[in-house]
Amino acid sequence: MKYSVDQLIAEAGKLPPMPQAALKALALIRSPDSSAANLASVIGTDQVLTTHVLRWANSAFYGMESRIATVQQAIVVLGLDIVQELIMNYSLSDHLNKPLPGYILPGGELWHHALGTAIGAKLISKRFRLKIDDEAYFAGLLCDVGKLVFEKLLRETDVNRIEWGQHSFLEMERDNFGVDHAMLGAEIARRWQLPESLVAAIAHHHEPQMAQNHQLLAATIHVADVSMMILGVGIGVDGLRYPLEESALKRLGMTWEDLFHHVEQVAEQLTKAKELINLG
Ligand SMILES: [Fe+2]
Repeated sequence: MKYSVDQLIAEAGKLPPMPQAALKALALIRSPDSSAANLASVIGTDQVLTTHVLRWANSAFYGMESRIATVQQAIVVLGLDIVQELIMNYSLSDHLNKPLPGYILPGGELWHHALGTAIGAKLISKRFRLKIDDEAYFAGLLCDVGKLVFEKLLRETDVNRIEWGQHSFLEMERDNFGVDHAMLGAEIARRWQLPESLVAAIAHHHEPQMAQNHQLLAATIHVADVSMMILGVGIGVDGLRYPLEESALKRLGMTWEDLFHHVEQVAEQLTKAKELINLG
């Protein structure tokens, strides 16, 4: 079965929404008058999320004498930043854990790629004092979400055709289908009512120079994404066809040496994060 662009956009709209409690909790964390108490009451409306937050807190602080028994205590020991990241991971892991036959990606690969891109994007923001830590994490986690829908186009397509080998995969996507996974991802983000900066960074994560007012964020995601390709995590059949835009490195003030150092650092942090999440 062939899919038209309109059908794919409609498919993007059919993806299950983000859990309500997670959206409310994230909005609350961003608001200046959030407190552990009111955040705990929002998290408490979602039983699965509550269980996760408690498990994460107890896993992270294994060995503490008194176990963490309430969400409010968990928020205090983990800190708002970590709670925010864990809620986002929880909300997206079901989506991103699926196998993507069109990209010949087994289940879990896109998830690991997304997690590494998120961790890497935040690391870059911190190291170069870009002051976009949270947005970078979320945009990194979401940048390839369009692949969930786009892979349907690829299931009946020979992605190894010789003439496509000379082009980047992104060019191939556009030339052959009139749409690419970045555009579809931005559409999904829009329907999830995520902020415009995230929509723009997802839309332009392969060509950050096109992101207008959000070039810094898009460049951060681009470099973090390419770093995961260098590491070979979740790259599927298309991974090696994505070029690095050198202008993104310049925009961030990064040298090639910084990039390779970053790749090493993110590999370490990804292993730690996977341990924490699996424990939870
Ligand atoms: Fe991508």
